[in-house]
Amino acid sequence: MKLLGISGSLRKNSFNTGLLEAACTLLPEGVEMTLVGCGDIPLYNKDLDTDTKPESVRLLLQAIRYADGVVFACPEYNYSISGVLKNAIDWASRPAYASVLAHKPAAVVCASQGPVGGARGHAHLCQVLGATLTPVVPAPPFLVPAAGDKFSSDGRYVDEEGRRRLARYLGDFVVWVKRLAREAGA
Ligand SMILES: Cc1cc2nc3c(=O)[nH]c(=O)nc-3n(C[C@H](O)[C@H](O)[C@H](O)COP(=O)(O)O)c2cc1C
Repeated sequence: MKLLGISGSLRKNSFNTGLLEAACTLLPEGVEMTLVGCGDIPLYNKDLDTDTKPESVRLLLQAIRYADGVVFACPEYNYSISGVLKNAIDWASRPAYASVLAHKPAAVVCASQGPVGGARGHAHLCQVLGATLTPVVPAPPFLVPAAGDKFSSDGRYVDEEGRRRLARYLGDFVVWVKRLAREAGA
């Protein structure tokens, strides 16, 4: 199984990118994950959304198309999701209802400095993914509050209990992705 991780933060040593890097090492056997950044993706402009898309967009769409599932890592910005992640999702959401995101299983992880761990951003992201027909794993969200205490200065997720929880969340996600694939083939 191949998963794709998309971080909504462009920050060097980002907590959210750090969560995805930790996730790569905590996956069940037989599952691999590659990461794609949103930094090179231009602002969505329908005039550019033609058959010949900007190269960074083409690569993003290809990566999503070939993944069995997507793990979004989302900073909470002003009680919502980051602009760069919303922009990437907007590109990936066309054509509506038949995009690479339609019916692509997704998981969402959030790390924030605040006390609720990005719960409001998580809720907004789930709402956005509703518009793209992207099902989100039916599990309690994986949130990291007070993230400054749980990452090393170079952005590694070092909280042992949190890493165990993340491994469990990813394991549940993988089981669910497999179940959806079985049901789709049935
Ligand atoms: C523009 C902006 C808005 C923010 N708004 C929130 C917020 O609403 N809630 C919150 O918990 N943290 C908020 N933060 C703090 C982020 O949680 C913090 O910057 C976090 O490190 C971002 O994730 P990253 O490390 O992956 O870049 C905000 C930060 C910025 C730059």
